[in-house]
Amino acid sequence: PEGSPAGDLVVDWYASAARDLPWRQPGVDAWAVLVSEVMLQQTPVARVEPLWRQWLERWPTPADLAAAPTGEVIRAWGKLGYPRRALRLQAAAGAIAADHGNVVPSDVETLESLPGIGTYTARAVACFGYGQRQPVVDTNVRRVVARLVHGRAEPLPARAADLADITALAPADHDRAVRFSVAVMELGALVCVARTPRCGSCPVRTVCAWRLAGSPAHDGPPRKV
Ligand code: ADE
Repeated sequence: PEGSPAGDLVVDWYASAARDLPWRQPGVDAWAVLVSEVMLQQTPVARVEPLWRQWLERWPTPADLAAAPTGEVIRAWGKLGYPRRALRLQAAAGAIAADHGNVVPSDVETLESLPGIGTYTARAVACFGYGQRQPVVDTNVRRVVARLVHGRAEPLPARAADLADITALAPADHDRAVRFSVAVMELGALVCVARTPRCGSCPVRTVCAWRLAGSPAHDGPPRKV
């Protein structure tokens, strides 16, 4: 891969600006990453942090969660909301325990074959849990790509090109490309936010297509929730 200057700028920014979140610490295993990603899908970081720790103390491997009574799993999920996610996580844990020797699979295709694990979560686990170079595209990343690459305030509904766009932005160096995936997500969460982007503290403001076009307002179909 050729790499892009913008990708390197985002990685350098991440080194000084990123939040110190527990699931990003070195040595956090792929099961802990999987749990964090399912929890973070619809719940803010601050509410996930304490529950994530408790969850992993109680169910440190997939087999432990798979063996738990479903009522207790739902109760432990508690305040995170959207409790169907707890059932999906338990179903995935059951498949990992039964079919994969209680080891979270490391390749994206196998991860995607697990019940309740979509392409976002599969790539997040492969990248953040196993250090693979993988594009990881969530809502925040799609917004960064829309602005930085396409000069649009908001992403278009069509998503097919997002993986290719983000892959083209990643630095050439392997380790930096791995870090880029979480760094661009963090940029979208902290700086390139939906309503009031903090362009003054953005590491890619000088190369951002949206800024260069004068930050035009959103003119497409209504934003998807
Ligand atoms: N770090 C890795 N994945 C994350 C996510 N989904 N939300 C916040 N921080 C993360």
